[in-house]
Amino acid sequence: MQPAPEHIAQALAPATSVVETVAETEPPATANAPAVTAAPASVAQSVAAERPVRPKAEARLYGTRTLGQWIRLVVLLGVGAVAAAAILVLAARGVTTLPGVPEFLARYPGEYSPPAAAESGFPWWAQWAHFMNIFMMVLIIRSGYQVRTQQKPPAFWTPKRGGKKISINLWLHQSLDILWLVNGLIFVMLLFTSGHWMRIIPTSWEVFPNALSALLQYMTLDWPVETGWVNYNSLQQLMYFLVVFIAAPLSAITGVRMSEFWPKNAKTLNKIYPVEVARAVHFPTMLFFVLFILIHVFLVFSTGALRNLNHMFGGTDVVNWVGFWLFAAAIAITVAGWYAARPIVLAPIAKLFGQVSSR
Ligand code: HEM
Ligand code: HEM
Repeated sequence: MQPAPEHIAQALAPATSVVETVAETEPPATANAPAVTAAPASVAQSVAAERPVRPKAEARLYGTRTLGQWIRLVVLLGVGAVAAAAILVLAARGVTTLPGVPEFLARYPGEYSPPAAAESGFPWWAQWAHFMNIFMMVLIIRSGYQVRTQQKPPAFWTPKRGGKKISINLWLHQSLDILWLVNGLIFVMLLFTSGHWMRIIPTSWEVFPNALSALLQYMTLDWPVETGWVNYNSLQQLMYFLVVFIAAPLSAITGVRMSEFWPKNAKTLNKIYPVEVARAVHFPTMLFFVLFILIHVFLVFSTGALRNLNHMFGGTDVVNWVGFWLFAAAIAITVAGWYAARPIVLAPIAKLFGQVSSR
């Protein structure tokens, strides 16, 4: 029998048993605590069995949980996160009152003066590289994640010159990686041919105490003054340095190690640098990127969004909506890329470089 819609079922059986209601709102049985939830459920069933059978709409599953269970989980996690954040803020405020700390904060305000030769502002090539980076990074993370999780890829690709057949996701991942590396190399070359490098590469050891100071200021919710047009604060500078000069190369050398481009017969080299090491590092590097992006974008929007967006998307240091709309266009293009990244669009491109098959 087809289960009746919920409201009809309720009208037919107005005397809903309390036990049933309790059973329905019971938290989901987790793998390590089945006994706890199994008991009330079976009690509910035996009580319910004595009543006329009530056609019950089966709760729809979204992934592993019902909508109600998801909402409860999100609320619980949200409350937990707010509580944890409040404790951190209070602790940080406590730290600022400790002896010596106010002097430390006065001596290291969170940033140090940039070298006189450092250029302020954002040249057009930095804006372009940043936009291309966003566009590709989103698809790289997505395709990498698909490589990791998809059991049955929708299509496969075999190189023209022969070689191992790989999933279309991995083909997309690696093709974008090459473009992304080229974009990054051009960016880094232009960094050094201009004075822009002094903005994202620390030029003084004072970067460390200042970064600590900036972190403390973020944690007290009394944030460092935003001067991104001229100079980043030290924590920001360290993070940008880390992303461009550590995380990106790390993802590349671990990625190439796992790919077909890596020489298989280099015995000594492969002994020193086993593929398992690369695999163990590549995924956490992606997690680092994701965490960086979440915090980065959150800070861009919470520290003067319109001005910041004008910096990186408009190349100006003013407050108006121009940068915002350019940013919106960049996001629209990225979303379009996300939707286009499916076999019907990818296969014709992949065919230019090899064979595409469904199995
Ligand atoms: C929606 C996505 C993004 C937005 C809105 C955004 C916005 C910005 C803004 C406004 C700045 C300048 C900060 C300032 O003026 O104080 C900036 C700089 C920077 N962003 Fe992003 N960003 C995004 C995504 C990313 C991604 C995905 C990465 C790398 C994985 C990244 C890496 C950087 C770096 C390295 C800088 C410093 C660049 C330089 O000074 O040349 N951003 N971003
Ligand atoms: C030049 C750069 C890169 C190369 C050559 C590369 C290459 C690869 C290769 C060959 C795999 C397949 C591994 C396998 O078969 O198990 C892979 C997986 C993956 N890649 Fe990359 N990748 C690069 C950059 C990135 C970046 C920047 C990210 C994300 C920020 C990323 C995220 C991932 C993820 C999440 C996986 C799945 C990992 C797993 O199964 O544990 N990759 N990559």
